[in-house]
Amino acid sequence: MEKAKRPIGVFDSGVGGISTLAALARELPSEDFLYFGDTLHAPYGTKTTEQVLQCVKAVVDHLLEQDIKALVIACNTASGAAAAPLRSVLSIPVIAMEPALKPAEESWKGGHILVMATPLTLRQPKFQGLMERFGAHAVPLPCPGLMELVEQEDDAGAAHYLSELFRQWDLNQVDAVVLGCTHYVFLKPLIRSMLPSRILITDGNAGTARQLRHVLAEHALLQEKPLGSVHFDTSGDRKLWLPVMERLYQKGLSIF
Ligand code: DGL
Repeated sequence: MEKAKRPIGVFDSGVGGISTLAALARELPSEDFLYFGDTLHAPYGTKTTEQVLQCVKAVVDHLLEQDIKALVIACNTASGAAAAPLRSVLSIPVIAMEPALKPAEESWKGGHILVMATPLTLRQPKFQGLMERFGAHAVPLPCPGLMELVEQEDDAGAAHYLSELFRQWDLNQVDAVVLGCTHYVFLKPLIRSMLPSRILITDGNAGTARQLRHVLAEHALLQEKPLGSVHFDTSGDRKLWLPVMERLYQKGLSIF
């Protein structure tokens, strides 16, 4: 198949990356996307780097079998663990994510910048590097257990988790909250409703979508047909997860 006509592979540990996928499809509606959620092995964020690398290798091998033209790691945790090793062995472009700390730091007004992410994301050298550049006022906030509430679509559980999390902070002293995990983007309307409106909330989805467009253009890989497609797959029970994935995709489209 002509190279530009091949699909783009997108993956996450579960359904979180569907928030990213919605931003990608909105930015690049002519493209065909194959989304893979590694639900069987989720969560990644409480695993070791080595365990995540092993999971990612199996997912990427599966997507490569489907002749993808580019790979988007729609997961901050997997990006930190696997982007560099994947780039060193793959011949297709690899687009990775990181917590959107830069725009939060740029809007700093004298308070704290809370960076919500998985424990593994916050432990990784990639995040340490980001902190050195843009983290002067940042406070890492590991959120183990929160992605599971998104996977289960447990809105009441998520509201309780978040109110406990934010209760520890004087919100008058907070300037921004960074959603450093693609799952948390689904909680953005809820988080927005819990925080004073002057607090900025950032995530990496729109930036990743712009980066994908840029990289595809650079490699002459942009599609030109009118309307692309989106297909979902999972390492978990398809009957159970595919309807959840479709539903969250529609929700993701409505968030952006
Ligand atoms: N969605 C993933 C991220 O962006 C992590 C969730 C997990 O712990 O698997 O970091």
